Amino acid sequence: MKHSEYSVVIIGSGAAGLYAALKLSQEISLPDGILLITKSTLGESNSKYAQGGIVGVLHQNLGDTTEAHVIDTLKAGAGLSDKCVTKYISEISDTVINDLINFGVNFDKNPKGEFNFTLEAAHSFRRILHVGGDATGREIIKSLIKKVQEDSNITILENSMAVELLVNSDSVCKGLILYNELTNEHEIVYTSATVLATGGVGQLYKYTTNPDCTTGDGIDLAYNAGAVIQDLEFIQFHPTALALSSNKNRFLISEAVRGEGAKLVDNTGNEFMSKYHDRRELAPRDIVTRAIYNEMRLNKSPNMFLNASIIETSKLLSRFPTISCKCKENGIDITKTPIPVAPAAHYSMGGVKAEVNGKTSIKGLYAIGEVASTGLHGANRLASNSLLECVVCAYELADHLSFTNLLPPKKIDKSILEKIDLYNTPINEIDYNIPNLKQDLKNIMWEKVGIIRNEKDLLEAKVLLKECSKNFKRNRRCLNREEYEYRNMLTAATLIIDLALNRKESRGAHSRSDYIKPYEEAIHSNIIKDNSKELLNVK
Ligand code: FAD
Ligand code: SIN
Repeated sequence: MKHSEYSVVIIGSGAAGLYAALKLSQEISLPDGILLITKSTLGESNSKYAQGGIVGVLHQNLGDTTEAHVIDTLKAGAGLSDKCVTKYISEISDTVINDLINFGVNFDKNPKGEFNFTLEAAHSFRRILHVGGDATGREIIKSLIKKVQEDSNITILENSMAVELLVNSDSVCKGLILYNELTNEHEIVYTSATVLATGGVGQLYKYTTNPDCTTGDGIDLAYNAGAVIQDLEFIQFHPTALALSSNKNRFLISEAVRGEGAKLVDNTGNEFMSKYHDRRELAPRDIVTRAIYNEMRLNKSPNMFLNASIIETSKLLSRFPTISCKCKENGIDITKTPIPVAPAAHYSMGGVKAEVNGKTSIKGLYAIGEVASTGLHGANRLASNSLLECVVCAYELADHLSFTNLLPPKKIDKSILEKIDLYNTPINEIDYNIPNLKQDLKNIMWEKVGIIRNEKDLLEAKVLLKECSKNFKRNRRCLNREEYEYRNMLTAATLIIDLALNRKESRGAHSRSDYIKPYEEAIHSNIIKDNSKELLNVK
């Protein structure tokens, strides 16, 4: 098998991966360079589709404070956010926003040349920066890609998927195996710092705002390496995805549209949010999601509506060009017609347990961005905190690695060689219909592990997934990208179900009809690979 050596390997080219690569190149002299691998084209990621914006608690935004942002984040997090982590991330937001500007990100300004801050649900202050109106992700990624492509310390490998982490018997990560889709070959990459920046798990659900790449790969890789996984039961369903029946990857209708005044209405045009929360459309995301879900049930309707036509027309069109254009393509004039919306899987609050600098429970393995669980988001993420977390953690990772010995790994032991052997051994060419298998899994997750859960459904989902795993006869090594993704989806889905079963309470995005109240002493849930060491802390 072909092999190579790098000082640092970053897996994923969303905001977290791209920014980490740039900061590392800027901060540290790396003898063997940085390898950035990504499973499709550079920048194809959740980050690219981000709309609303990124939180910045900036000194020039008079009246806003990190204390206020911390309080908003902790409230939305429903008691599970880590206060120290939240405070740290909030305090450093000014620095990273300025850094993004230096990398070419041109945040929207008003005619006076001041930042045009917007508001989103559960924020007490207008503190969200955006670019191109509602194209924040696309513009951030474009700027970062340009810099990464110009940087001679960074080698980019597209169409290359990390499929196994090489962890030795002392639990130290020494690199990874990747599958190159273009050559159809596996390759070994040795490194002393492997960074997971692989994003989330939206594709585990029938309806999602996420693109196709979000198949939980980082969760599978870390779990199989024996890393601690945390809080995966907290899946955030965004309340307002464009609900057109033909559409399963659902286009997002940003929360910022509600931030600018749009109202949720039912089939007869009646507003309903006052029944659910005193902040109405701007209640925390989990509450708005359940309100819409409930109204859909009561009205026996596949969607509710978002009436944006009450926003002044020129403001609506200039502030939300991408959304108005997408709706128009689908025959909806948002200045006149309410937009059909329904909830869709959007974000994973849990993930690989990591510190703000990306350190995981495995030496040499780091996790940043959506794949990581730092404790910022608790049981429910506050809008626009995710892009902020991506860049802060990438920034801190670069700082941490500048004090770390990044010489190529020496000790390749028997356990690593055994893993490599597995990928050298031919496997049978069973012809699985992976698109159908993926769809079955997505249906199970949507119907039984969705917005409202209960023990009966979760146990049924567990049995069904066990059956799926049994029928998929692969021992880690697979034939192609589709198979690997399905393998990873099975792992992530199983972990979500196990943790959801064990959290016998309703909290934030985890809502159970059989345990409707929060359990006061609830703490983070943990799971690691070795079942004898399984830690399930939820009472
Ligand atoms: P991603 O951006 O998802 O990048 C992951 C990368 O890893 C991708 O390049 C992927 O191809 C690659 N990858 C995955 N597995 C492998 C593998 N095995 N091998 C190689 N490569 C792999 N958050 C906000 O803060 N503000 C917003 O306005 C906002 N709007 C959003 C709108 C939408 C439609 C969506 C879907 C999300 C939004 N979010 C928003 C959430 C936010 O965009 C994401 O949480 C964040 O961008 C995640 O960044 P990331 O770098 O961690 O992961
Ligand atoms: C949105 O624009 O509604 C998404 C914001 C987020 O997910 O943080």
